[in-house]
Amino acid sequence: MVTTANAEETARLALARPDLLKQAALIDGDWVGGGGAIDVLNPASGRALGTVPNLSAAATRDAIAAAHAAFPDWRARSAHDRARTLRRWFDLTMENVDDLARLMTAEQGKPLAEARGEIAYAASFIEWFSEEARRATGEIIPGHAADMRLSVIKQPVGVVAAITPWNFPAAMIARKVAPALAVGCTVVIKPSELTPFSALALAALGQEAGLPSGVLNVVTGDAAPIGDVLTSDERVAKFTFTGSTAVGKKLAARCMATVKRVSLELGGNAPFIVFDDADLDAAADGALASKFRNTGQTCVCANRIFVHESLHDAFADRLAAAAGKLRVGDGLAGDTDQGPLINAKALEKVERHVADAVSGGGRVLTGGKRQPDAGTGGAFYAPTVIANVAVDALICREETFGPVAGLIQFHDESEVVRRANATRAGLASYFYTRDADRAVRVAEALEYGMVGLNTGLISTAVAPFGGCKESGLGREGAHYGTEEFLEPKTICARVES
Ligand code: SIN
Repeated sequence: MVTTANAEETARLALARPDLLKQAALIDGDWVGGGGAIDVLNPASGRALGTVPNLSAAATRDAIAAAHAAFPDWRARSAHDRARTLRRWFDLTMENVDDLARLMTAEQGKPLAEARGEIAYAASFIEWFSEEARRATGEIIPGHAADMRLSVIKQPVGVVAAITPWNFPAAMIARKVAPALAVGCTVVIKPSELTPFSALALAALGQEAGLPSGVLNVVTGDAAPIGDVLTSDERVAKFTFTGSTAVGKKLAARCMATVKRVSLELGGNAPFIVFDDADLDAAADGALASKFRNTGQTCVCANRIFVHESLHDAFADRLAAAAGKLRVGDGLAGDTDQGPLINAKALEKVERHVADAVSGGGRVLTGGKRQPDAGTGGAFYAPTVIANVAVDALICREETFGPVAGLIQFHDESEVVRRANATRAGLASYFYTRDADRAVRVAEALEYGMVGLNTGLISTAVAPFGGCKESGLGREGAHYGTEEFLEPKTICARVES
């Protein structure tokens, strides 16, 4: 349904640069409409902030054609030239951090301080990959015969299609787009239809930084028709997706018909283990940071909090006291620690998980209910801590994606490692211990792409991010991030002596 943007909502944005609120898609350097429009809602109020075009399959093909046409020139530029453009993009992103954060809070709900943090996190990928642009180096291999010379050069794969989620509307774009552009690829992004304004504003700043027309295109609209084209068009060489495991599997399967390179960053079910030798205060702080970041809507959020039986009650009390103090409300309002969930469906899932945990014997220590007084019309849920959760509860089997910490007691190390690994997910994991031998043993035994040891926050542009098992394929960030967009080419030369 399309409504007119609520004037009050738009005015509250109070952007220093109102032109950064783009209500159009970006194709071949032009801001375009067409195909009807879809509302973008503020999840704190349920009211429309504006609209974006609901593009058709044909418009998506136009964006791919633009990226395809722009590729030869962009790849032919020097790495230094591309690096400088990305550096300017980083500078502009940081110069406009307040506006970008306000747009993000308005469409996604996270508190302003957290949104500013995400813009800085997004910018750090642009900065990092502007530096990596010049390091896409190849290799010389000793020949397999006296007259043979072997070398490997790395070339950009070509047109990249990216589908990105609503929970990190800027960082998940920068983490894919910056390395792709750095090594000479061109890109078509499809941001979540729930949070397109952050993507469009970033792309506008990319244009200002000097990205040539067609190098970065943003298509907006319903996921299905656009996704079908991005995963089937043979001009797309590489497909990269962040989102749910179920959707990622379907999209990746479609990509195989044209054998695209595929990277997937999918769902997690992170264990967070507090051993009996842990620093209890540090562990409670880490759990708070990991669990309640972004209202619990991250793929790396602690989802199953295993606490040694000797510490369970003390840990539960500390975490509940801290969670109970989090201020819930409209992220634009100021003193807010936790914003709304993205929509009513997310709220219903959280309620289902809490009801199930309680029916299995869990004890709600704080929260456990909606918080309608936090704002009008928004999907607010109180930060919740539940003690004594049964290991077969829904909360342990599925990603809750909400502000609910379920605590499970355990008895010994081998048992908890086995339980932590008993899932098809393999993205992030965390544990707290002060025993050096245990630290090494458990870090090696956890079947996850990332392990946080005595910390609940592990994300940074300079380390590889990604999962194993059904949590994904490939890595983003660090020098691994550029490899995903490069094709190694072997040159096998016979040389007359
Ligand atoms: C995610 O939840 O998908 C990403 C979180 C992060 O980068 O820390």
